Amino acid sequence: MNLTKTHLATFIGTALLLCASACAADAPVNPQQPWLDTRLTPDQRAALALKAMTQDEKFQLIRTEFGDTNNGHPMPAGALGSAGYQPALTRLGLPALQESDAGLGVAKPLSSGATALPSGLATAASFDPALAYAGGAMIAREAHRRGFNIMLAGGADLVRDPRNGRNFEYAGEDPLLTGLIVGNAIAGIQSEHLVSTVKHYALNDLETARNTLSADISRSAARESDLLAFEIAIDTGHPGSVMCSYNRLNTVYTCEDDWLLNTVLKHDWHYPGFVMSDWGAVHSAAKAALAGLDQESAGETFDNQVYFDRPLRAAVASGQVPQSRIDDMARRILRSLFADGVIDHPARPAPIHFAADRKVARQAEEAGAVLLRNHGALLPLAASQSVAVIGGHADKGVLTGGGSSAVQSPEGNAVPGLPPSAWPGPRIYQPSAPLAAIARHAHGKVVYADGSDIATAARLAAQSAVAVVFVEQWAAESFDSPTMRLPGNQDALVAAVARANPHTVVVLENNGPVALPWLDQVGAVLEAWYPGAAGGDAIARLLYGDVAPAGRLPVSWPRDETQLPRPQIPGAGLAAIGLPPHGQPDQRVNYDIEGADVGYRWYQRKGIAPLFPFGYGLGYTHFAYSDFTVHTAHGRVEASFTVSNRGARRGVDVPQLYATLPGSGEVRRLAGWCRVDLAPGQSAHLHVVADPRLLTRFDEAHQRWLRPAGRYVLQLGHSATDFQGEGAVTLPKAEWPADAAPHGAAQSCLASRG
Ligand code: BGC
Repeated sequence: MNLTKTHLATFIGTALLLCASACAADAPVNPQQPWLDTRLTPDQRAALALKAMTQDEKFQLIRTEFGDTNNGHPMPAGALGSAGYQPALTRLGLPALQESDAGLGVAKPLSSGATALPSGLATAASFDPALAYAGGAMIAREAHRRGFNIMLAGGADLVRDPRNGRNFEYAGEDPLLTGLIVGNAIAGIQSEHLVSTVKHYALNDLETARNTLSADISRSAARESDLLAFEIAIDTGHPGSVMCSYNRLNTVYTCEDDWLLNTVLKHDWHYPGFVMSDWGAVHSAAKAALAGLDQESAGETFDNQVYFDRPLRAAVASGQVPQSRIDDMARRILRSLFADGVIDHPARPAPIHFAADRKVARQAEEAGAVLLRNHGALLPLAASQSVAVIGGHADKGVLTGGGSSAVQSPEGNAVPGLPPSAWPGPRIYQPSAPLAAIARHAHGKVVYADGSDIATAARLAAQSAVAVVFVEQWAAESFDSPTMRLPGNQDALVAAVARANPHTVVVLENNGPVALPWLDQVGAVLEAWYPGAAGGDAIARLLYGDVAPAGRLPVSWPRDETQLPRPQIPGAGLAAIGLPPHGQPDQRVNYDIEGADVGYRWYQRKGIAPLFPFGYGLGYTHFAYSDFTVHTAHGRVEASFTVSNRGARRGVDVPQLYATLPGSGEVRRLAGWCRVDLAPGQSAHLHVVADPRLLTRFDEAHQRWLRPAGRYVLQLGHSATDFQGEGAVTLPKAEWPADAAPHGAAQSCLASRG
């Protein structure tokens, strides 16, 4: 799983070529339905199908229904009990659209079960685009074999706040990392003949008041942060659909924002696919259609009315919306269905290979868990040590985030019945128990305490060679955590166990950064995120060194809320679990406080030291960098360096290239990275090209990307704050995309080993 991005692009390209020729070979063409001719391009096929469509058929295509029962709405006949459904257009040979959530696996129907990937943040922490691709392909294979042809995946909102309830669905705070990880996950999904979305476009960075909140940010700052993540994800993965979000952007609902949809997405980025709404995110017919929304999702259940039927037909009849716009909406949807293979490779029920899929989930967790502390080399554990396993339902399974993306195992919920029972619950645990997995590794005695009684837990810890405490934080769509504190008595539990036995390892199963008031008292801390279908196995394999932790933080880890751009989330206390999001107070959130300087850039700008920086993560060995040079070649900035494994164990390193633009003070940007697996004593000589998109600023006055003239400092980092290697190049002013450079040059890393 260590393909470079360059290899991956070649791999994707070859796969597509093979498919195109194989598909073309066996396609008998019905002259009545020329759009089914696989030799034609998606654009040609969409144009032909559109020409044959009646107005009613077009209006069928531009809206979906909820695919399940809800609030008295019966499930439509033919739906699969999931997020979205549209009946087949049989006359045209077009299948029903069956839409499934989401990026971590097939979420519904819950009872059927599916393989859960670990959190999106775990995949991002791997810094491994090939792993993201493999995860996407795995969940899409399961979806296709359940009859789905659209996956509502591709969460690309930036993590601007560790308390945001959906961080576990996203890929961190950096636009390049998010764009490449999410883009590759999308490419993996679409390789299985499904349309993937990228969502939630855009700036849906908090759940509190998400249906009414206005994310206020200057346009150039948006372009250089959240929108850049989407731009790179789209460039990399070519999702068939973009899902516009619930929130408003600078007071305009995103699903009716002409600038966001028409100007940025469709004009500037030349996006050829379709925009679908989030569920309940449509507020108008003509305004939304004219702004660029192409498909209304589940309006009969979640919107005030179905806007893209009678109201939109009336707007066409009155001339307010031209017929050409309706045609464009239908054409874009058709184009994506053809381009992604939905028509040529119909989704049909087929057996699912759960054992193989579980391995994909396990590998993602093993590559993405981040070792935050390992005092005195407490880890890896020795099999001979006796162990007290404590808390976190570790005897049963591992936690999953809640809301529409929650995936339940085919074996069911390992800890049923915990609140909340209603949306955004249920609270689901994957039946992969860390306790059993630890017991399989340990030859010494293994005991368990559930942590509800602190004295009992401390007593078991004192009687054992080591204690492993599992702490958890359930987060879900529709609400944010008001604070960074771990819920319940868990901080007191960890402190007491650590007092009883300093050889205490804490394993975090959580949405992301939380306060760690006991950090200095414990021996080791492993950030396991929500660990996915094989989480228990993966955690035990990491603790015992079957595999070394290799994850690097895709988010900065603040000490506490006071270090954040917004120490308090407006109204977060009001958004208690289970409250419907509708009807929350209107809020405006000022994202211009940090602007484009999200996460580590904010801390650098303010001179604040977070508890752990972006890009940080330990392993069971250590790496040194040498021979760092930077130079320009073919108009690009390239860095070369040597990475050496200086420890006694094999391990994966992620050397990171940061660029400081002229006049940026201390604010650096991640411009590329490598991921390299080295045996003890082994070295590799590596080259990274700084992604040109990260060397530019958006020039709002002239509506273009500009690379300013001046001195660019390039630093090689173990993280965003720990550098070993620095150089500089002086570059002339240039516009991006440059004529010679292909748009969307991806991060690349070339290696030669010694
Ligand atoms: C979520 C989307 C999801 C949709 C369909 C919404 O509540 O925001 O991410 O795809 O529901 O379930």
